[in-house]
Amino acid sequence: MRSSSHIPTLGVLTALLLSQVCSGVKWLVLSHTPATVPFNQTQQCKLLPAMVSSQIQLCRSNIELMPTIVQAAREVKKTCQKTFADMRWNCSSIDIPANATKYRPDLERGTREAAFMYALSAAAISHSIAQACTSGDLRGCSCGPIPAEIPEPGHRWGGCADNLNYGLYVGTKFSDAPMKIKRSGSNANKLMQLHNSEVGRQALKQALVMKCKCHGVSGSCSTRTCWKGLQDLREIAMDLKSKYLSATKVVYRAMGTRKHLVPKDIDIRPLRENEMIYLHSSPDFCTKNEKLGSVGTQDRQCNKTSVGSDSCDLMCCGRGYNPYTEKLVERCHCKYHWCCYVTCKKCERIVERYVCK
Ligand SMILES: *[C@@H]1O[C@H](CO)[C@@H](O)[C@H](O)[C@H]1NC(C)=O
Ligand SMILES: *[C@@H]1O[C@H](CO)[C@@H](O)[C@H](O)[C@H]1NC(C)=O
Ligand SMILES: *[C@@H]1O[C@H](CO)[C@@H](O)[C@H](O)[C@H]1NC(C)=O
Ligand SMILES: *[C@@H]1O[C@H](CO)[C@@H](O)[C@H](O)[C@H]1NC(C)=O
Repeated sequence: MRSSSHIPTLGVLTALLLSQVCSGVKWLVLSHTPATVPFNQTQQCKLLPAMVSSQIQLCRSNIELMPTIVQAAREVKKTCQKTFADMRWNCSSIDIPANATKYRPDLERGTREAAFMYALSAAAISHSIAQACTSGDLRGCSCGPIPAEIPEPGHRWGGCADNLNYGLYVGTKFSDAPMKIKRSGSNANKLMQLHNSEVGRQALKQALVMKCKCHGVSGSCSTRTCWKGLQDLREIAMDLKSKYLSATKVVYRAMGTRKHLVPKDIDIRPLRENEMIYLHSSPDFCTKNEKLGSVGTQDRQCNKTSVGSDSCDLMCCGRGYNPYTEKLVERCHCKYHWCCYVTCKKCERIVERYVCK
């Protein structure tokens, strides 16, 4: 009863605010910026699409940061699609034209998928900046600090650490900027976006690991030089995917004098810093539905022997599937091709594949 009485107000609000709701990650359209654009003049900042004024400010004062941000936007797109290649929702809707005013509804409505996109975007921008510090591309930063802890015997600190603190500082400033604008969007959505961005950054912090290089006579590895480096974004995305799968549905509710996001089912506990949250349930993404932003799974490739989400049963939602054959050209495996010991390098193999009906 309680929830149904909220529907009209929420509906009206959502309709009013929809155009701004997802502007929070609009900067991802920077992925369309050609790699050949030289960022050498501050006038370029206001010509870039989809940036809010404090992002333009940041661009003006740190123009050398822009290639890194453009690269982060590309990484987000690529990594999201790779990470979800085995799922019904495959992140295809993250790719919108630079002149589009909004994302498709699957990413615009405060869903789990939107939650993932925010978390990954926040992690990616700080990841790229932290690593750009290491490669000397940025004026404002260099290698991260040498850790205070004593290294293990046979190890010593050296090399150049990824500058996570700088990455987090500047990345947060840029990627949270649209959500910090007072007038834009509904509060519930903004709070959700900010929370999930922080979830992404928490995952990034967890991904700062020790990396080492061997030294010593002819690779004897008698000493190792070690530094703190970030794992690949792909690993961080896998971590965020499991958070996506166990995400918590929240509601916006008055607690004390202010309204907060609280778990829908167990609304007595506060939100945890590292749990992904969403406001609206998603469809099953089995069939095409423009209004919900579902492209459906027809013609998606499925795996007949898998028992996971890419299995033909799950991917095709029980509709069945069609086989087709594909010719693979690959390195010759000696297991199958005797010629590999002497002559052949490339071999052909016919494989059977399946697509959903
Ligand atoms: C920016 O780079 C372009 C291409 O390299 C060059 O033609 C232009 O003169 C540069 N502008 C400035 C202000 O350095
Ligand atoms: C966006 O640009 C494309 C060409 O690049 C054009 O065909 C399309 O109509 C534009 N859409 C909008 C909404 O302006
Ligand atoms: C995602 O699925 C849609 C619908 O089947 C397909 O058209 C699209 O190419 C897929 N995108 C990626 C990146 O795999
Ligand atoms: C299908 O799934 C099986 C089991 O998980 C895996 O070994 C195989 O490589 C997959 N095939 C393709 C084409 O992805």
